[in-house]
Amino acid sequence: MRNSPQAEPRPSVGAHISGYGQGQASISIQEMLRLDPDALAERLIELFRSPRYQPPVLPAAATQILRLSTNPDVELKDLVEVLGTDPLLMGRVTTTAQSPLYSGGNGQVRTLQEAVRRLGIRGLRNIVLEAAMQMRVFRTPAYMECMETIRRHSIVVAHMSHMTARFVRVDPNEAFLAGLMHDAGLAGGLLVLADGKRKEDAPSLSRYWASLERAHVAGGAAMVRLWGLPEDLARTVSLHHSPAPGGRLDPMAGCVCLAEHMAQLLGARVQYDATGGAGARLNDADVTDPAFVFTVRDAFKLTSKQMQDLFEAAKALYPLVA
Ligand SMILES: [Fe+2]
Ligand SMILES: [Fe+2]
Repeated sequence: MRNSPQAEPRPSVGAHISGYGQGQASISIQEMLRLDPDALAERLIELFRSPRYQPPVLPAAATQILRLSTNPDVELKDLVEVLGTDPLLMGRVTTTAQSPLYSGGNGQVRTLQEAVRRLGIRGLRNIVLEAAMQMRVFRTPAYMECMETIRRHSIVVAHMSHMTARFVRVDPNEAFLAGLMHDAGLAGGLLVLADGKRKEDAPSLSRYWASLERAHVAGGAAMVRLWGLPEDLARTVSLHHSPAPGGRLDPMAGCVCLAEHMAQLLGARVQYDATGGAGARLNDADVTDPAFVFTVRDAFKLTSKQMQDLFEAAKALYPLVA
């Protein structure tokens, strides 16, 4: 008989989680063992939506830049001033502005002001959030390898979404952010399962992956809302595996769906160790039904030639971002 999530005790609050700012609230191992995969997925979703759940804490400077980026009157000097308070973010912004992807062949930047000017306000916001996600979200000693595939997949899908945006006429900067965040729920779910444990003590993913996968869409949307990111972004995250609710395509979710398809074709797949650490059998996960990819292509009225051009552009971009 399936266990009722309502009948289970409330989760223990993981007050012991600290340092990484990895979020709080957890499900006890006893409860996990009692629940079947569907019930555990529901329990995870309930947890993500509970007022007790706190997503990983983003660096203060990233939160401030996120807030400033929504202010139409923000000045460059304000952004530079905030960035100057966080040497790690500052270094990441400077390096990114000088990378082949952003420099446009102009090479080095001499000052932080120059780097910020080169990236633009929303470009800066995206790079800062990318760095913040890498520093605070895509990491846990318990599931290091799996988290690394999620991190890499998310970064590649972010860049692929930015590139795909011009083929499907959505905003490239918002597409980047949607791609970056689309699987935040997978990372957040891993952090809940890990609950600060060491690799040896963490529950086996082969047992819990199906629940994690089922919960990641709702979990990711909840995390995006709790970080104060736009509601449109939460909607995109919630639709990224089924971008045409009621037969009507959500353009941004469709863009991420195509971008994810390209990323997976090129090798940036999410995989997990199906042996629970005992061997090297990797299972693919986070896969969109191929029928949806056709639905999205048709809804955007993309021709075979345009799809081929998109794939060629993805192939050229991949080595720069993978
Ligand atoms: Fe994904
Ligand atoms: Fe996903």
